[in-house]
Amino acid sequence: MIRVAIIGATGYTAYEAIQILLRHPYAEATYLTARGDKCGPVANIFPSLTDRLSLDLEPLDLGRLSERADVAFCCLPHKESMSVVPQLLDAGLKVVDLSADYRLHDVKLYESVYDVPHTDAGNLSNAAFGLPELFRDQIKGASLVANPGCYPTAASLALAPLLKEKLISSNDIVVNAVSGVSGAGRKPKQVFHFPEMNQNYFAYGVGTHRHQPEIEQILSDASGEPVEILFQPHVLNIDRGISESIYAKPTREISQASLNDLYQEVYADEPFVRLFTSPPLLKDVACTNFCDICPMVVKDKIVLFSNIDNLIKGASGQAIQNMNLVCELSETSGLL
Ligand SMILES: NC(=O)c1ccc[n+]([C@@H]2O[C@H](COP(=O)([O-])OP(=O)(O)OC[C@H]3O[C@@H](n4cnc5c(N)ncnc54)[C@H](OP(=O)(O)O)[C@@H]3O)[C@@H](O)[C@H]2O)c1
Repeated sequence: MIRVAIIGATGYTAYEAIQILLRHPYAEATYLTARGDKCGPVANIFPSLTDRLSLDLEPLDLGRLSERADVAFCCLPHKESMSVVPQLLDAGLKVVDLSADYRLHDVKLYESVYDVPHTDAGNLSNAAFGLPELFRDQIKGASLVANPGCYPTAASLALAPLLKEKLISSNDIVVNAVSGVSGAGRKPKQVFHFPEMNQNYFAYGVGTHRHQPEIEQILSDASGEPVEILFQPHVLNIDRGISESIYAKPTREISQASLNDLYQEVYADEPFVRLFTSPPLLKDVACTNFCDICPMVVKDKIVLFSNIDNLIKGASGQAIQNMNLVCELSETSGLL
């Protein structure tokens, strides 16, 4: 069995990773860390784990970690992660980092987008970008995997086939996205307090969201030419899920049939991408590692609909998929 440590094991992505590991045939959670006052039986923090997982949450101790785990999922906020990841690597573990700290290749871009100095820039070039459908070869054999953001996963899987074939303009793309509230993590914030969020919906990060440069980087890397997008996220009063409607301008006339053929061909062997001929339902990806995509020709545009569960394909499911690749397990283990 692959032994998995989860760093920051009191949060939402950690909880989802623990749940997937409970049903994983070749990997198990063996070491969970938390800050002082939350240490103790993990079921105290997540009562649904009562009688299912008897591990304690412990303060991070690198000696114990290296004895008890082979792989670590770092589920900390950005900035905190880059102070811990080098220690995990030095302790001999393979690391999948769920934060944004190792996603952007350009340290200056990271520092301007996240408004903090990068304290582990040396490891940026060692980090594989953990979107298996686009970068599988660099993930296999990597010691450090930067797990992608949730919005970028849904947008990139939808857009990459068109950009790789140069079938749409690379600088005339609008990604209009909606996320459930769990995208903001477990730490309470007033705007997400029930009386304020219930029956509510709003746009945020207009022109400034941190996932915009990440989407541009992924799609530029995948297509080999600079890609610019306009990304507009919204929050909706649901627990989980991301639904994106994406508008692109074709570079030449394309029929619905040939669009369908392209996506069928590109994703034929991808176990976690499902294709639809009408807009997919968000409920159908809830608690799954699927990305459901529907490409359509509408008037003079191509419109793409792309849905994921932000906590699974957008975070912990994708982290498990990356661990499976790094550890040479079957890629779908624990996920179907
Ligand atoms: N939520 C999503 O949909 C999603 C999707 C993709 C990626 N991500 C990324 O995944 C990471 C985890 O997200 P999440 O939603 O699980 O967040 P979360 O629910 O807020 O959990 C964060 C974890 O980090 C710990 N933590 C926070 N600040 C810390 C500090 N200064 N020092 C040590 N530990 C600290 C928390 O401990 P306490 O309980 O003690 O506060 C908790 O265990 C983030 O980087 C996030 O951006 C999240």
